Amino acid sequence: MTATGLVGVLAGAACNGSEDGDSFEDGESLDDGGVSTDAAPNPTGGDPDAGHGDTCQPTVEQTPGPYPQAGLEREDLDLYGHDGVAFELRGRVLDPDCQPIAGATVLLWHATPSPHGTKPSSVDPDPAYQAAVYDHESMSGATTPDDRPIPTGEQMYYGWVRTDANGHYRFRTLRPGWYLNGAAYRTSHLHARVFVAGEVRITTQLYFADDDFNEHDLIYVQCLEQGDCIMPIDAGGNGSFDFVVPDADE
Ligand SMILES: [Fe+2]
Repeated sequence: MTATGLVGVLAGAACNGSEDGDSFEDGESLDDGGVSTDAAPNPTGGDPDAGHGDTCQPTVEQTPGPYPQAGLEREDLDLYGHDGVAFELRGRVLDPDCQPIAGATVLLWHATPSPHGTKPSSVDPDPAYQAAVYDHESMSGATTPDDRPIPTGEQMYYGWVRTDANGHYRFRTLRPGWYLNGAAYRTSHLHARVFVAGEVRITTQLYFADDDFNEHDLIYVQCLEQGDCIMPIDAGGNGSFDFVVPDADE
């Protein structure tokens, strides 16, 4: 069965919320900062007054991958001067009644960007691409801004922000590149976690509809089996995504 066929068969499967009860572990209090009062636009085009009888399907739960990140609080992840495609992600955190959650924490992390025009030749290992993307020391120095080592491709671009009074969040970064997962490249993706009251409520991954590696990536396929995992992209190339956290007792 093709990946597309598999998606079709299993579309509509129930979403499951986080059950592991992980707590936020970056050593920074979630209560030490105020909620931003910046009034972000409603990027997903949804009805900000939704909730009068409406329901929102919880965001699909996905693996955090091998390199889950924690601190720091920052919305600008484009810190290294890398060549890449500028990308902004905006959205909201909502409850299952489609009501915004203020003061939720959205944590984002992703692979280093690929320079413009640089992409693996196929899903198979491509030495030329690896040399262009994964030589972190020559690209940026040996540590992250918070003095962490950079041995892999998903330990540079990360940060968390808190939703404002209307549940909005925003990140500015560069579109992530492709990295090897075993013997094949994963499609370009973002990792995200949403915390409410200091507890992990959703761990997921977000995808670009225009990535032609999508159908080869089983983690992407599994996400689409369960719900909506693709970021709508606007005319400026920026994305949006509303996270819907399950009820706490689910
Ligand atoms: Fe990843």
